[in-house]
Amino acid sequence: MSQTFAPREEFRAQAVAREQLYRDAQADRLGFWAQQARELLTWEREFTEILNWENAPVASWFGDGQLNACYNAVDRHVAAGNGDRIALYFEAEDGTSEEYSYARMQTEVSQIANTLASLGVRTGDRVAIYLPMGPIAVQTMLACARIGATHSVVFGGFSAEALHSRITDAGARVVVTSDGQFRNGKALPLKRAVDEALAHGDTPVDHVLVYQRTGMEVQWDEERDVWWHDVVPQASTSHTPAFVPAEHPLFILYTSGTTGKPKGVVHTTGGYLTQAAFTHKNVFDLHPESDVYWCTADVGWITGHSYVTYGPMVNGATQVIYEGTPSTPHKGRWWEIIEKYGVTIFYTAPTAIRTCMKWGEEIPAKYDLSSLRVLGSVGEPINPEAWLWFHRVIGAERCPIVDTWWQTETGAILISPLPGITATKPGSAQRALPGVSLAIYDNLGDEITNEDPGLLVITEPWPSMLRGIWGDSNRFKETYWSRFPGQYFAGDGAKYDEDGDIWLLGRVDDVMNVSGHRLSTAEIESVLVEHDDVAEAAVVGAKDDTTGQAVVAFVILREGADGDRDALVDELREMVRHDIGPIAKPRDILIVPELPKTRSGKIMRRLLRDLAEHRDIGDVTTLADSSVMELIKGIDAR
Ligand code: WTA
Repeated sequence: MSQTFAPREEFRAQAVAREQLYRDAQADRLGFWAQQARELLTWEREFTEILNWENAPVASWFGDGQLNACYNAVDRHVAAGNGDRIALYFEAEDGTSEEYSYARMQTEVSQIANTLASLGVRTGDRVAIYLPMGPIAVQTMLACARIGATHSVVFGGFSAEALHSRITDAGARVVVTSDGQFRNGKALPLKRAVDEALAHGDTPVDHVLVYQRTGMEVQWDEERDVWWHDVVPQASTSHTPAFVPAEHPLFILYTSGTTGKPKGVVHTTGGYLTQAAFTHKNVFDLHPESDVYWCTADVGWITGHSYVTYGPMVNGATQVIYEGTPSTPHKGRWWEIIEKYGVTIFYTAPTAIRTCMKWGEEIPAKYDLSSLRVLGSVGEPINPEAWLWFHRVIGAERCPIVDTWWQTETGAILISPLPGITATKPGSAQRALPGVSLAIYDNLGDEITNEDPGLLVITEPWPSMLRGIWGDSNRFKETYWSRFPGQYFAGDGAKYDEDGDIWLLGRVDDVMNVSGHRLSTAEIESVLVEHDDVAEAAVVGAKDDTTGQAVVAFVILREGADGDRDALVDELREMVRHDIGPIAKPRDILIVPELPKTRSGKIMRRLLRDLAEHRDIGDVTTLADSSVMELIKGIDAR
């Protein structure tokens, strides 16, 4: 039996209501979601239809309703008399801070919306956002939503090449960026990457709106570039939101898949907001009038979309957003912020928890963390050791931990305990949330009900499900709906334990999870083979104590490539940084004479992973040439 932690008394009042949510959803799933959509959102036009699944796998939720996401996240809170409530406490890396009330958000978001409109952005257009984490990024997303433009946020750690492919794929007309961003106490350029991306000359971008964050020097294109400070503060502070149909695309967010090209995951408005708000409220036991919530994710990732910009703001929450790294200027930075703002709900990633564990518990011990009530984890399976540390050292054994499983594609949390009703269990994400139907299948598509490991599938449509992959409906069907026809295949392994709780077992496809960031093995491989000296490359995600997985590349050189190997390895790392971004740089690059392949010619990644993790190699009888492994074993990791 796994260790469990019983719910605490102070959650009992909510627990009764939450148990009822499971029962309501069980009794009438669609009715349950319709009720949530009506309670949590303000509709300009009420919907009458709940789910239309005739075009499966493309769902329509609340299809004849109309609403505006920004109105729901901002204006209605002001209209309800909560304009003075703080929406965002912004903490900059250098310790300066600023408060943004809901009223201020309304004024400033309206100015940005008017500016975007004056740059030619119309309802239905796409806007690329390449900004550092901060209020400007959140406001720009909301401003797009306000005019019905679809935003595509590109994480500031992605390279110019990655940005270029995302801009062209989405057909963005405007890019919003900043001169640079602060990271680890340094000012790093951002606009430079936009310039480089647009220098390809094949994008539909007319304008680049540039926020001045660092004051660093930038190149300027008079025709195309517009300084934020020249236009936004002068723009009108009033703007009427564009009310759009519930299925209007709110955003595109690119994520890694099993093939080289990143997928533009499309989310729409009504269903997405319903489930983002529902989960944010219930999973974190949110009391908007008293809680101070902090999610450490950057808005460049789905967690920053659903649990910084949309879920909390639709719920009228007060939250902290932080620009910098956990160790700048010292390793107690996060705990200092929790103390400073009296954070009550704290949502972060296992990789960050493991890093803090390594730094030692005497660091958080210096701060007053007694305001905390609920802790959350997301992005990868949390190992029980990290869970227990988080529970004891940060949560003082008082705060329930919600281990939340979900994906860019699911839009919102689907599996998680609920504080106060679930006895939490280190390492298990536990239960499907109300209104979510899932199963674990074996390879043949038969449901597993015992404790055998299998594949996680979602068996019924849910409101915040992706509606497709931008511009590629075949890939959408192929990737998620063909493995088990009619069922959503998540790409994760999972199993039940003896209590029926779910344990996530990691990806079963060629997607890696490095520090909670999704990376594709194929995408990195295709960069590596672009090098003239490389004949073939295989990339695997090897277990890593801090980052969960680490990128390990095996490369075979071309005949005659006999230059300096250290220099080559450096060049290859630099290519990956240039084409994708620093997060994808391999930890190890091993130059090998051959790669292990099956008789049908498929690279045996499992063997490579074992090798990269220094495990014994299991059964190699299906290898075309088992001597390959002997050769490979003699190679040093670099
Ligand atoms: C993994 C992040 C175990 C999983 C929100 C999933 C998790 C992928 C958990 C999605 C968790 C996320 N336990 N695994 N609590 N949360 N994952 O799209 O493999 O960046 O498929 O979304 O992260 O990553 P994505």
